[in-house]
Amino acid sequence: MVGYDAAIGLAYPEEEQKRLTAIRVTSGGTANLKKEQIASLDSVIRRLELDTERKRVQFRPGFEAFAACHQLADWEGWYSPHDEATYLQVLQKIRKEDIVLDIGAGDLRLALRMAEQAQRVYAVEVNPLVVGAALQTIGFHLPRNVQVVCANALDFSLPAGITVGVLLMRHCWHFGRYFDRLCAAGCRRLLTNVRWKDGVEEIDLTAPRLPFEQVLDGWYACRCGTVGYVGSGACVDALPVEVALCPACLPKPEEGAIGL
Ligand SMILES: C[S@@+](CC[C@H](N)C(=O)[O-])C[C@H]1O[C@@H](n2cnc3c(N)ncnc32)[C@H](O)[C@@H]1O
Repeated sequence: MVGYDAAIGLAYPEEEQKRLTAIRVTSGGTANLKKEQIASLDSVIRRLELDTERKRVQFRPGFEAFAACHQLADWEGWYSPHDEATYLQVLQKIRKEDIVLDIGAGDLRLALRMAEQAQRVYAVEVNPLVVGAALQTIGFHLPRNVQVVCANALDFSLPAGITVGVLLMRHCWHFGRYFDRLCAAGCRRLLTNVRWKDGVEEIDLTAPRLPFEQVLDGWYACRCGTVGYVGSGACVDALPVEVALCPACLPKPEEGAIGL
């Protein structure tokens, strides 16, 4: 059996529809959506998945110069979606009162899903080809509570009231700057896979941070994005300690302090 969304002309298998709906139910979303709205959104997301895979914009001529102009290093500017498990880890932590800042929102597939659960989502994506194509695909299905900004998130003035930042970007060289900007905007939580790469952590941006020297044996995680272990290895199972300033934050002779 195949489903069909006339609004965007997309056919999709019924099993896929059931899978997507089940994910929403288990992640607590869609409380206020009608069945038809859920089906439309699922179709849009499926279409985004297919389109994005076909386009692979990072291989287009001109991309390298564009990335360099935005000081995006290495893979940082590549659009590469995350897997369902990673998205679910984020979705499970989005609350209905949240105002979300999705940093590097890619083709907006996660932003659309977060918008089902949150008060509002600001989706910021630097790559106009990724976000432009996504908006064309989404068309009139763009929910009212999603505001899409095509900009470098390092330049963009953060709106008031953001409660949670979402930063899914394993190859991120600017973690400390995002961290500081979110704190300055009064945001309290950050959901990210940048520091530990494997899985999504929820960082309390308001939590006190220990001086690095006080970590005698154990894991640490720094606001600059560095993680590591100090000591003998006797405490490998203990939770990491949040530190304010680690050796990686110290200015190199030829540059200023990292992340400021
Ligand atoms: C690994 S992809 C992840 C996309 C999306 N978060 C997801 O999980 O599906 C990283 C995205 O971040 C965007 N990006 C990287 N640096 C950015 C910046 N400074 N401002 C806005 N977007 C950025 C890239 O263009 C890319 O689309």
